[in-house]
Amino acid sequence: MSKPIISPSILSADFSDLSKAIHLLNNSSAEWIHLDVMDGNFVPNISFGMPVIKSIRKLTDKVFDAHLMIEKPERYIHNFKLIGVDVLTVHYETQIHLNRTVDLIKKIGMKAGVALNPHTPVSFLQDIIKDLDLVLLMSVNPGFSGQKFIEHTYDKIKEAKELILKTDSNALIEVDGGINDTNAAKIVEAGADILVTASYVFNHENPIKAIDNLRKV
Ligand code: DX5
Ligand code: ZN
Repeated sequence: MSKPIISPSILSADFSDLSKAIHLLNNSSAEWIHLDVMDGNFVPNISFGMPVIKSIRKLTDKVFDAHLMIEKPERYIHNFKLIGVDVLTVHYETQIHLNRTVDLIKKIGMKAGVALNPHTPVSFLQDIIKDLDLVLLMSVNPGFSGQKFIEHTYDKIKEAKELILKTDSNALIEVDGGINDTNAAKIVEAGADILVTASYVFNHENPIKAIDNLRKV
């Protein structure tokens, strides 16, 4: 079992001192930083957008992993590239022309991800999996950090892994929501490559150690 990439989400960081959170992540074993963008329409919460991402881009060289929980994300693909996002993930449920959106993300130089809500079957990706760099499986209903991991996700991770192997896809599997030191090993064992974590890390008395705990599973 290879070590997972950890992508801490700043959604649970102290927004009055984001530079402190970024410096902390710079000193950690996390390779990516997860950016949860919410519009109050696709999900019942509003988080932050381009100006915040642009300002923290100056503080770190870590991979910027943006998870767009917004309607019509295709409107902003160029903007996310311009502010320094590396991996751009859109939700399957927001897309009529997913193939066009994925093509554009890759054409302008970012990695393309597709996220599935807990109720959206993995099989819906079978005709696009070869073109994806990443599949994000939501293990909570998107919108908030601090929710409980949905157990059915283990089956979805295995199913995504089978689909990837069967189709010779290079897509990585990212799992997002309710991850902590009690379930991380089982999630990685099922086939996850990247673990997103917000509340477990930022509510931990030692966030650097919390990240190591997840990485060493
Ligand atoms: C939820 C977000 C997640 C969330 C994870 O909509 O996509 O990235 O911040 O938070 P935890 O790790 O607290 O479940
Ligand atoms: Zn997320």
